[in-house]
Amino acid sequence: MSASFEQVRGESLDAALSRARDFLQVAGVASPWADAQLLAAYALEEELGEPVSLGRVQSLALLGQPAPQALASLVEGRGQRIPLQHLTGQAPFRSLTLEVGPGVFIPRPETELLVDHALAAYRQLLAEGLADAQGDNLLLDLCSGSGAIAAALATEEPGNRVLAVELDPQAAAYTRRNTADLGVEVLEGDALELPRGLEGQVALIATNPPYIPRGAYQLEPEVADHDPELALYGGGAEGLDFPLALLGRAAELLKVGGYLIMEHDDSQGPALAAAFAAAGFERVESLQDYGGKPRYTAGYKASRAPKNVKE
Ligand SMILES: C[S@@+](CC[C@H](N)C(=O)[O-])C[C@H]1O[C@@H](n2cnc3c(N)ncnc32)[C@H](O)[C@@H]1O
Repeated sequence: MSASFEQVRGESLDAALSRARDFLQVAGVASPWADAQLLAAYALEEELGEPVSLGRVQSLALLGQPAPQALASLVEGRGQRIPLQHLTGQAPFRSLTLEVGPGVFIPRPETELLVDHALAAYRQLLAEGLADAQGDNLLLDLCSGSGAIAAALATEEPGNRVLAVELDPQAAAYTRRNTADLGVEVLEGDALELPRGLEGQVALIATNPPYIPRGAYQLEPEVADHDPELALYGGGAEGLDFPLALLGRAAELLKVGGYLIMEHDDSQGPALAAAFAAAGFERVESLQDYGGKPRYTAGYKASRAPKNVKE
């Protein structure tokens, strides 16, 4: 993009916000007004040295506050379609603020909903006596990236043993940083192999693996240019090669009655539901995201191995 968003000497926050919104809109940013305000909040926080809510941004704009110095370069960067979260170095996820940046997948709002389902199922396992009410259950986040799922599980159901597995060393550094104070065990390596020695012992697996079918979509620049490739593509024509392999591994790790929930592309629901049943899961369900699209498949490991499952 050739246009630039220059600092205007003595410009008010109010005027700079309007200009930023228009600039981001022209640059093709999906939510230009929200992003302009979020960047202003971040720049004001840096300048004032204290937290600044979006409501406060509005109040300060009304009161004639000057635009913060750092806003221009932030808006400029966002206009180049650098993800907002890379500019601020932070991503909100449920009650947490995670550290993110180049080299790690930015957690998405739909994965917050995956955690809701995982926690509801975990509480159901407790009610059914399939999880230990004293805690000490094994909860896994396979393909952990920023550690979002693991961190949420550890925060919202404390007292359990939570493991996070991440293959990419750069991403795993974020997994470790974001879960360091939460007692999560981070394993760096292939989720088709790790953790070892816990087969048949895991109560719950919540996973958002790479699943995009390559070439199926025109990805936005924020995704195509900034999310790591390893985080995106599931492999094979349908993007299902890795998710299906992970399903097989999850079936080995779970104990009988244990719960698996997997996020996936909205085209993959029927194939995954069939694969869950074939892999020995029961009460298999397809769950929808905020947009009403089938985004997660979940089920409980059955007490008996499936019959007539073809390899
Ligand atoms: C879609 S991202 C999800 C990250 C995080 N769970 C979230 O929801 O924000 C998928 C993650 O899986 C990791 N990954 C890809 N292949 C893997 C493998 N074989 N074993 C472990 N992690 C893998 C990627 O590096 C990436 O961090």
